[in-house]
Amino acid sequence: MLEEKIPIAKPSFLGNEKKYVLDALESGWISSIGPYIDRFEKDFAAYHGVKHAIATHNGTIALHLALSAAGIQSGDEVIVPDLTFIATANVVRYCNALPVLTDVDINDWNISPELISAAIRPSTKAVIPVHLYGNPAKMTEIMQIAAEHDLLVIEDCAEATGALAGNRQVGTFGHISCFSFFGNKILTTGEGGMCITSDDALAEKMRILRDHGMNRKKKYWYDQLGFNYRMTNMQAAVGLAQLEQLDMLLASRDAIRSHYKKKLSSCEGIVFQETNGNRHVNWLVTVRLKGLDQEKRDAVIQELSRENIDSRPVFYPIHFMQFYKDAKYISGDCLNSVNIAGEGISLPTYVGLEEEKIDYIADSLIKAYEKQSA
Ligand SMILES: Cc1ncc(COP(=O)(O)O)c(C=O)c1O
Repeated sequence: MLEEKIPIAKPSFLGNEKKYVLDALESGWISSIGPYIDRFEKDFAAYHGVKHAIATHNGTIALHLALSAAGIQSGDEVIVPDLTFIATANVVRYCNALPVLTDVDINDWNISPELISAAIRPSTKAVIPVHLYGNPAKMTEIMQIAAEHDLLVIEDCAEATGALAGNRQVGTFGHISCFSFFGNKILTTGEGGMCITSDDALAEKMRILRDHGMNRKKKYWYDQLGFNYRMTNMQAAVGLAQLEQLDMLLASRDAIRSHYKKKLSSCEGIVFQETNGNRHVNWLVTVRLKGLDQEKRDAVIQELSRENIDSRPVFYPIHFMQFYKDAKYISGDCLNSVNIAGEGISLPTYVGLEEEKIDYIADSLIKAYEKQSA
């Protein structure tokens, strides 16, 4: 038994983070103007090969900013996977539009082109595919369907910075794509987010709305209702340093997943997300414990906790929440979402997690799973 609990996630600051933050502090540029914001936006856009990156204070408001700039409003419907973090659906409601919760594929756990097609109705204006736990959705086919129905696509890349769908980075398919830099994310700024796009008009709208709706040429003149959604220079200082190391951070997560896969392969009932040949970036290594119900899965989480291992349930289906229970929000039966949520468990995943600890986690998981499925 370990003396210290293995956390589910933790950030790693192995590069210029401290140096850049100190520099930002000493420069006095601590709010939402400063060289680190410009550099982080420029380099993040360049990393993705897109024209614009607009930094925000977190990933939730990045999504809200994107929908607002795209003009999503009351009467519009937006297709959202039922199995995602709650923010993906909430932001649609912030715009007074209707999120239509749609099932996910049982193998890759993402919204699929077929499920999107089935959810399209006359008022559908947009779709928000999510690359769940860092596993890319089928973006080429999703973009095809969206084009046929004239739908806007906003990629929710909150969990998938650096992932590849085919040989193309996630975030480069949608009209706008949004990222989260929360403390447990692949690239972190503490709290933080980013919208990227190659559409000049959408980028300009997002920059204006992010800054209270202020006219870009006339200070303190507001042509529309906007928000304060800006990132600080200190957050961007951390983000820039993290971006400089992104390839190393991703390689480390790849190695962690491979080791988990090797160790857990002996247990048939423990099933990983199907990657469809894409590059999964392993935000949190998450598996299904096949055949367990939610109560037994929770018992596994408790058993791991007793072994000093922190683990998490997969997100609950959004339609389980009281304020999303109304049938108007739900498309189809969302049974895959319910099954994955009941069986799913996320395991410790962070840069620096040692192989011996993965061995210990895997052995403990198999033991707890076998006990609960007996
Ligand atoms: C899929 C998804 N979308 C949106 C968000 C929201 O990002 P943030 O926590 O930075 O507001 C998250 C964060 O966990 C997420 O996982």
